Amino acid sequence: MLATPSLTALSVTDLNVADPIAQAVGQVQTKALDALVCPVDIEVQGLTKHFGATRIFSDVSFRLARGEAVALVGANGTGKSTLLRSLMGLIPVTQGHVRVLGQDMAAANAAGVRAVRTRIGLVSQKHNLVPRLSVLSNVVQGLLGQYPGPRHWCHSFAPEPSRRAAMSALEKVGLADFALRRADRLSGGQSQRVAIARAIVGQPQILFADEPCASLDPAAGEDVMALFFDLVRQQGVTVVFTSHNIAHALDYGDRVLGLADGGVKLDATAASLSADDLRGLYD
Ligand SMILES: Nc1ncnc2c1ncn2[C@@H]1O[C@H](COP(=O)(O)OP(=O)(O)OP(=O)(O)O)[C@@H](O)[C@H]1O
Ligand SMILES: [Mg+2]
Repeated sequence: MLATPSLTALSVTDLNVADPIAQAVGQVQTKALDALVCPVDIEVQGLTKHFGATRIFSDVSFRLARGEAVALVGANGTGKSTLLRSLMGLIPVTQGHVRVLGQDMAAANAAGVRAVRTRIGLVSQKHNLVPRLSVLSNVVQGLLGQYPGPRHWCHSFAPEPSRRAAMSALEKVGLADFALRRADRLSGGQSQRVAIARAIVGQPQILFADEPCASLDPAAGEDVMALFFDLVRQQGVTVVFTSHNIAHALDYGDRVLGLADGGVKLDATAASLSADDLRGLYD
């Protein structure tokens, strides 16, 4: 994962080739090499989003290579959740392009968008578990994108392979013993871990996490972030997460994108940033 930025950063400009034809060939070769070595999972170009007459952000552009973890930061209302929802194709964009796993989300038909979404997991601040169902049923429901229909509404109807996948996801988050407990009888930290299990049960290629630990106390929040990133790093998943926690953005992101004043005001590797750089976004 850490090797990605240096690979992507290698361009003919760095090689100092003067001949324009050689440069053009070099660029094509470099792009082809990048695509082979490290596919681009998310590509956003000139993205603009208005709600009615209100502009939320404009001309947002970035590319995320496979396995990159990106922290999306910015003050309340700058459009972080709106950007995530745009990436997932949950809301129409006003202008620009979003390509996720090679699919242009605006050009895709409903089936195309659904196919991409089955390869995306989402963890949100409010874990959105179904309170009266078991923990296991909630995790089985994480497979509904791949297997729509009533067999995946509840663990007792679910096919054996799906139940096994859900148990395995619960083991990964350390909650196998809670499989049959009702979801409304969990602590906040446990609920958030179940939400992570539900997001990873379908083995997604991309995970979006919208303030995954904002409702947790600092210790539980730290546990959830550490667990989440252990899992995604093991599996080479591409991650976009939002956070108001500057330490989390710097510790868990390879890269930080900062939204302010209706656009991307910061796009840098986490290693090159200090907490003060991020605080500047909130001024
Ligand atoms: N469906 C909607 N209709 C109209 N306005 C909306 C809608 N959803 C969000 N907004 C507005 O868009 C702006 C950005 O909201 P968004 O939730 O994306 O911000 P955010 O950066 O995620 O904020 P926070 O840090 O508080 O979560 C806000 O002003 C919000 O009121
Ligand atoms: Mg938000």
